[in-house]
Amino acid sequence: MRCDLILRDAIIIDGTGGPRSRGDVAVTGDRIVGTGDLGAWSGEREVIATGKVVSPGFIDAHTHDDRAVLCGPACMLCKMSQGVTTVVVGNCGISLSPVRMKSRPIPPLDLLGDESWWTFDSFAEYRERLTNEPSPVNTLALIGHMSLRVEAMGGDMLRPATDGEAHKMQTRLREALQQGGAGFSTGLYYPPSHQAPTDEVIAVAEALRGTGKLYVTHMRDEGDGVIASIEETLKIGRDVGAPVVISHHKCTFPHNFGRSTETLALIEKASASQKVDFDVYPYVAGSTVLMPDKVKPTVPTKITWSIPHPELSGRWLKDIAAEWGVDIIEASKRLLPAGAIYFQMDEADVRRIMAHPLSMIGSDGLPHDAFPHPRLWGAFPRVLGHYVRDIGLFPLEIAVHKMTGRVADVFGLTDRGVIRTGAIADLVLFDPETVRDAADFDNPTLPADGIAETWVAGQSAYVHGHGATEARAGRLLTKGA
Ligand code: ZN
Ligand code: CU
Repeated sequence: MRCDLILRDAIIIDGTGGPRSRGDVAVTGDRIVGTGDLGAWSGEREVIATGKVVSPGFIDAHTHDDRAVLCGPACMLCKMSQGVTTVVVGNCGISLSPVRMKSRPIPPLDLLGDESWWTFDSFAEYRERLTNEPSPVNTLALIGHMSLRVEAMGGDMLRPATDGEAHKMQTRLREALQQGGAGFSTGLYYPPSHQAPTDEVIAVAEALRGTGKLYVTHMRDEGDGVIASIEETLKIGRDVGAPVVISHHKCTFPHNFGRSTETLALIEKASASQKVDFDVYPYVAGSTVLMPDKVKPTVPTKITWSIPHPELSGRWLKDIAAEWGVDIIEASKRLLPAGAIYFQMDEADVRRIMAHPLSMIGSDGLPHDAFPHPRLWGAFPRVLGHYVRDIGLFPLEIAVHKMTGRVADVFGLTDRGVIRTGAIADLVLFDPETVRDAADFDNPTLPADGIAETWVAGQSAYVHGHGATEARAGRLLTKGA
């Protein structure tokens, strides 16, 4: 038998969570055409993979790569160098369509860039751009509530929507889902949607009914009100009959440390009667825009970008405040618009949440930050290296499952996230002994160690030591595709 590519004598971890096996994987075109002992086969290209793991390419369950997927291989190096072959964009209520901006968008929408990037009146236009100028990775796109709010309410967003506005958002969401959107996301934590009552969200999310597509949320409150926020999330999902994903699950601020025992018990109980899952990133720090009313002396804060003070990216907020002779709130105001990293979680919570069977790994990386949180370049290898190999939080097979087959199941992808004959050849080859994140909070943009090569639909997309290739084999995916 002849094929395009054979990975020989690999440790095969197939993405299902089942035990590893040793053998070969053969690829022709964009598909896996054989696995197991393929001694009688020959490949156009043969890779001796002894001692290395071949697994499905990782599916990054939570990203803000809406714009990064539009700008070619260099922009996605941060992900392909981790073994990521698919990204879920449009999280936290922020999606690049369907809204056109005439001026700089209100934070946190500006995480995706200034108005020059917001040019897609419909999801169909965004899809067309991705089709004409494909990304090197696959994209699943959620439609963001905040983007719909700007479109329906204009600049006047710090209030509940009227019934007419909510209806308009529902119509726009329905259109976008028909055009290939993968679900609906909210960011109720953020000022431009915090005033939206639960009823408004339910009215918009009504467009999900009957589609099987997801309701995904950066909840209203991940601190003191986390239990009420989980209950609100579950209610929204139940009321419109949609499966739910809680984004970057966490318990913020020192006085809430340890409460993941409560939150996980609540989610687990609900999962008996409705579909609910969550994503998590492997760090005790989060990152988003800088919000002066949210900074706290108990939460060490690092600046990731600042329009008036770009030279202060990477500096601690408290040091900047001390140099300026002001408090951290005043210093934050002077840095705006800006972004920050907040050290606001507990290591034991991060581990408990990550180890829970309902978790998926998502980076939540912010690709346009000048000094980004290291999760952008390191989330997946950090789980494989630090959490699996170094501290033994769970077996490698489970880690891979949380990055592949499980995510594919939650998002309704068939033929991805698994190694079997007939599946699409999105693959990663890595060394389980050396894989590790190199990016950290001091040097946040370093590619991972130990990720040898990444393939998207059978095409080599990233090679360690060489970087991204010219391949652009990524496609827009949606439920069932
Ligand atoms: Zn978020
Ligand atoms: Cu996010």
